[in-house]
Amino acid sequence: MNQSKKSIDWSNLGFSYVETDLRFSARWRDGVWGDGELIPSADMAVHEGSPVLHYAQACFEGLKAQTAPNGDVLLFRPDLNCQRMGRTTERLLMPTVPESLFMRGVESVVRADGAGSPPHGSGASLYIRPFLIGVGENLGLRPAPEYEFRVFVSPVGPYYKGGGLSLINLAVIDLDRAAPKGLGAFKAAANYAGGLLATQMAQSLGAQEALYLDPAEHRFLEEAGSANIVLKMKDGSMVTPESESILPSVTRRSVMTLASDVLGLSVSERPVDFLAEVDDIDEFAACGTAAVISPVGKIRMADHWYHFHGDGEMIGPTTQKLYDLLTEIQRGEREDTFGWTRAV
Ligand SMILES: Cc1ncc(COP(=O)(O)O)c(C=O)c1O
Repeated sequence: MNQSKKSIDWSNLGFSYVETDLRFSARWRDGVWGDGELIPSADMAVHEGSPVLHYAQACFEGLKAQTAPNGDVLLFRPDLNCQRMGRTTERLLMPTVPESLFMRGVESVVRADGAGSPPHGSGASLYIRPFLIGVGENLGLRPAPEYEFRVFVSPVGPYYKGGGLSLINLAVIDLDRAAPKGLGAFKAAANYAGGLLATQMAQSLGAQEALYLDPAEHRFLEEAGSANIVLKMKDGSMVTPESESILPSVTRRSVMTLASDVLGLSVSERPVDFLAEVDDIDEFAACGTAAVISPVGKIRMADHWYHFHGDGEMIGPTTQKLYDLLTEIQRGEREDTFGWTRAV
C-alpha cells in the first residue's frame, strides 16, 4: 500500500479513498476482451471524445472483503455483483464482463493488497470497486468503440458518521432519483450524479441521506441514496419495498433471507404506501454494502419528523440481530450455512 499498513488507524477509518499499490485493468477492443493486468498507476488517460465523459456510459459495482479470524480474506456474494453488472451493461449497451474476468480482476487486486487488508476485529474492511467505462474517439450519441474494466480497492470504515451500528436520519426531498422505466434498477453512474443535490438538500435538513418515494405517485417507499430499505412492522413481519426503479441490493436479499430462515419471521416484498403505513412500522433500516444495516431513527417529510425504533433513542432488537448475523457471516465468525462467502 502507498500508505504503509502500520500507519493506518483502522478503527478510525471513514468511507474515503485510500490509495493502494495495484489495480486491475482490462480493455475491450474489436469485440474481444484482453486478459487484463495489475497496474501501479491510479490515473487513467482517456480520449477526450470518450462516451463516458459526455454521455455517462459507465457503470460500477461495490463489494467488500473482510478478514476472518483464521486469516482468510472473505468476499461476500461476489457472483451477485457480477450478475448485476451484467444486467446494467445490457441496459447501457456495454459489453458484458465475463464472470471469469470479473472474478480475476477482483481476486487479483485483493490478493495483491492482501498485506494491506484490514485485520480481523479492527472494524474496517476492504471496499472493492469494479467499474466499466466507454472510451475511445467518438462524437455522436452511440455506444463507445472501446471499453475499460477496472477494479481498485480501498480500506474503509463505516459509511455514515458515528460508525458501526448507529442511528441515521433520512429526509424526503422534492427530487426523484429515477424515472418509472428509467435507470433506477441499474448501477449506472448517471444515477449518482443526479442524486448529489438530493443528498445535499437532505443533509441541510439534518439527515444523512435522501429517502426517495416512487417517481410516478410519490407515495410508495423506494430507497435511500445508496441503500435499500427493510422494515420490521409492528405485527412482527419484515417487509421490503417492491419497486421496478430501485437497485436490487445484495445486502437486502441477504438480510431478508436471514430474517426468514434464521429469525423465522414472515417476510414479504411489496409496495409500501409510506404515509398510510408509517404508524405500522416499528424498526426502519437502510441496508447496503457500504451502509451494512443502518437503523433509521427518524425521517423528515413535509416539515414533519416521523420516529422509529422507539423514539429514535435505541436500536430495535430485530435490526440489531440482523446486523449481528450478517456481519458475523461476512467476517467468518459464524458458520456460513448459505455458502455466501468466498475465500480469496
Ligand atoms: C442506490 C443503491 N441502492 C442500494 C444499494 C445497496 O446495494 P448492495 O447491498 O448490493 O450494496 C446501493 C449500493 O451500495 C446503491 O447504490
